[in-house]
Amino acid sequence: MTVDDEILISKAVNALKNSYAPYSKIHVAASVLGSNGKVYTGVNVENSSYGLTICAERSAIVQMVSDGERNPVKIAVVTDLEDPIPPCGACRQFIAEFNPDVEIILYSASTGKMLKTRLSELFPNPFKL
Ligand code: THU
Repeated sequence: MTVDDEILISKAVNALKNSYAPYSKIHVAASVLGSNGKVYTGVNVENSSYGLTICAERSAIVQMVSDGERNPVKIAVVTDLEDPIPPCGACRQFIAEFNPDVEIILYSASTGKMLKTRLSELFPNPFKL
């Protein structure tokens, strides 16, 4: 694991407690390393109108763009489930807007299981205008 990986994972692990998931009880946090060297975190935010739920990855990307950074170089997605989870389809498209080949680390905070991949592997043909 590189220093970047450790920092990204630990920031997402710290943010997990802020996940708002009273309906699914699935807590997810994501952290994004921007090309400016800053790390942006986000969590899933659910709603009683279920379809309005925002995933952790999109929360983190919104934080990044709101800060004026548009180039994610690495993303960590963390849960407390036994196995790491990959970004959902909507998040893949959302991330691809900014870097279709971004590195992705998937991590379980409960078991320490980790997988490394790239968005281009998970989502080879993003819709692009
Ligand atoms: N979730 C994420 O935050 N990211 C994903 O990529 C997959 C799903 C959240 C949304 C919802 O709050 C919970 O996980 C269960 O679907």
